[in-house]
Amino acid sequence: MSELVDTFGRAHHDLRVSLTDRCSLRCTYCMPADFADWIPGPELLTTDELMLVLEVATGLGIDGVRLTGGEPLLRPDIVEIVRMINDLPSPPKISVTTNALKLAQLAGPLRDAGLERVNVSLDTLDRDRFKAMTFRDRFNDVLAGIAAAQAAGLAPVKVNSVLMRGVNDDEAPALLQRALDQGWRLRFIEQMPLDAGGQWLRSTMVSADEIFEQLSALYTLTPVPSRGSAPAEEFYVDGGPATVGIIASVTRPFCAACDRLRLTADGQLRNCLFARDELDLRIALRDESLSPDQVRAEVERRLRLVVKDKLPGHGINDLNFIAPTRPMSAIGG
Ligand code: 5AD
Ligand code: SF4
Repeated sequence: MSELVDTFGRAHHDLRVSLTDRCSLRCTYCMPADFADWIPGPELLTTDELMLVLEVATGLGIDGVRLTGGEPLLRPDIVEIVRMINDLPSPPKISVTTNALKLAQLAGPLRDAGLERVNVSLDTLDRDRFKAMTFRDRFNDVLAGIAAAQAAGLAPVKVNSVLMRGVNDDEAPALLQRALDQGWRLRFIEQMPLDAGGQWLRSTMVSADEIFEQLSALYTLTPVPSRGSAPAEEFYVDGGPATVGIIASVTRPFCAACDRLRLTADGQLRNCLFARDELDLRIALRDESLSPDQVRAEVERRLRLVVKDKLPGHGINDLNFIAPTRPMSAIGG
């Protein structure tokens, strides 16, 4: 049971925690190549501060914690963090969204520490394109990372792909074929207006319908019933059991079923990816006039407050929509 129920009756079970805004790639839809506006070190939550927040949140019904970034595996104590989350009095399911560059090294230790699943971002199967899309020549490291995750038993690995017009919008069928061959669970995500460079255009966005059509030319897709709070519309491929997901964040928002909250690496609570406001947890965590119990009570109060203020939807399709000021890399995916 979640105690974090908003004014629209949505119970919150899932907390996305950004562990760092740094990243080893520069995916153009996430972060400008020359991005330099990093969160200063002293503003990042310490691991102790983070664990206090997670202890309170899991006591209020959060039962899924997804570690994100930037690139969460750049956090030096990532394995320790997973282990400590797993040792909480009410341990949540733990997953990680990663670019996979460090998975070859860390998949085994993360699994042993209690990690259940990984989501890997991969948008192209072409090494040169990968380099153009991420400003780093690391395509082969991603494939090695995914293979390491599978070998460590972190299966099925979910792979997220964002298609961009004129860049990789011809790759949907090839990505799906590779996913079928390799046992990846593939999901396409509509590009959202979150890039710090502000280059997103609705008119060029590759829509969920378009992706469905591209795939349907080569595969028979039949809807998988019962989606719950999961954002992806899932389809059996050629009768199953393999599936492919399409996440229509823009054209068919799933806000009505949203059960997520977010915590940025610098300790700000967000009730939506697209929220204009954040609620400062760090200030409560560092308030030296409070006893440890008072800090816990204040963190709980703020968690309830951010849930209470949650709007019914992200408003991307409203005429007066304003994108958040921070890039995706600083909010956490
Ligand atoms: N639109 C859609 N998806 C995005 N991601 C990052 N930025 C965007 C965006 N603007 C994806 C990444 C990663 C996940 C955390 O979110 O590809 O898989
Ligand atoms: Fe890094 Fe992920 Fe952003 Fe790409 S999408 S730059 S891998 S944080």
